[in-house]
Amino acid sequence: MANKSSFYPYADRYPVNRRMPDKGRPRAEVLAELRQMSEEEDGFWRTGRVSGTMYCGDLEHYAYMTEAFGMYSHVNALQRDICPSATRFEGEILAMTLDMLHADAARPDSEPVGSVTSGGTESILTAILAYREQAREERGIANPQVILPETGHSAFRKACHLFGLEEVVAPVDPKTTQVDLDFVRDNINDRTAVIVGSACNYGYGTIDPIEELSGLALDRGVGLHVDGCLGGFILPWGEELGFPISPFDFRLPGVTSISADTHKYGYGPKGSSTLSYRDKKLRQHVYFMNQEWSGGKYFSPGMAGSRSGGMLAATWASMVHLGREGYLRYAKKIFDTSYAMQDAVLSHSELEIIGKPTFCFSFNSPEFNIYHINDFMRLRGWRFNGQQFPDAIHMCTTRPQTQDGVVEAFVTDLAEAVAYAKNPPQPEAKSQSIYGSLPPEAQGFVHDVLIDMMDAQQAVPED
Ligand SMILES: Cc1ncc(COP(=O)(O)O)c(C=O)c1O
Repeated sequence: MANKSSFYPYADRYPVNRRMPDKGRPRAEVLAELRQMSEEEDGFWRTGRVSGTMYCGDLEHYAYMTEAFGMYSHVNALQRDICPSATRFEGEILAMTLDMLHADAARPDSEPVGSVTSGGTESILTAILAYREQAREERGIANPQVILPETGHSAFRKACHLFGLEEVVAPVDPKTTQVDLDFVRDNINDRTAVIVGSACNYGYGTIDPIEELSGLALDRGVGLHVDGCLGGFILPWGEELGFPISPFDFRLPGVTSISADTHKYGYGPKGSSTLSYRDKKLRQHVYFMNQEWSGGKYFSPGMAGSRSGGMLAATWASMVHLGREGYLRYAKKIFDTSYAMQDAVLSHSELEIIGKPTFCFSFNSPEFNIYHINDFMRLRGWRFNGQQFPDAIHMCTTRPQTQDGVVEAFVTDLAEAVAYAKNPPQPEAKSQSIYGSLPPEAQGFVHDVLIDMMDAQQAVPED
């Protein structure tokens, strides 16, 4: 369906490569084509009306990182003898991250370390693999389980699916959206490898009661992974700036690992994240060695084999360029902007904000279908992220929203959207069927649609 030429992106403008071209094309021509698509696509989010995804939004910063990437893009970080710089970049990315996450508090009893990965999902997969191996090797648990909040990112379920762990999904309080601590307490058993909390979760931007989870983890002798993929590089600065954010990091003695994405609020290039461990021993559980291989003694410390040195260089370049001062400055503007937008939402009695979020907030309406708001705001160029059970939409505030005039546009457009939603031209919201909750009989249909979408994203163009 979607891989037919008429649906294939840019088929109407550029030649489609259905097989290897006989002759190559001049670099300048290829670059011009790439530039045109990239500039047009960037136009969408540069308005500041797109939730999440473009965390930095500063083209000069992107160009700077691209320059750093370019010097090392061809380098394989697996071959450290010819690129000692990769060890410098990786070591310092981790040292800076551990510092931000207060790993000093874990010393001297533990030896905090970390790994750089390709993204939040890989950080989470790696953490769950480490806990599975730890449970097997240190506690003799053949079929370990993970307890995670319902709001925990899907990557945890993916990890359980890939690595064969049992997932126990803890409900959350519908008002606060924080994990039900009694459920977690009651469900920890001999097979529990790790419990999970988010700081913050993707859907609502709310933070689980990490201090209480830390106490539980310590009492019951299980690991506690804090998912800071989204919040890990902004909440620490928010706390320092005095916003209402409780500690969620290694200052809490039960926290054994934290994922934090450099490619989100670390403002690094897409394709990088960190996984920090309270203690070195946990990291060693994912080390892989094959000493008997005819190809030579093979070893790699994580999921990946070859990795681009460019990613390490550009991530490092982003962090050392910004430093504490830069991160604090950006964070202040993002938190202020988010709270200004939340005030705009709260100024409408028809709307409510879910839980107590900070830089990423989700809202719904007890009076009308919130997807009517989404429909209207889309016409004004806004792109929110949708939640279900209950239906809601969220705005993850990033630097593009901190530009002049964006909050003002949000205030005006939202007021009109509320008027529209109270009296919509048709009862069904247009965006509901994609993002909203669906009756059980529609689930099979949605499953098929999602399979089609994944196929289409990787479609080979047909003749
Ligand atoms: C809380 C949280 N955890 C994990 C992830 C997964 O990160 P990635 O998409 O980089 O794999 C995300 C992504 O938005 C997230 O918000």
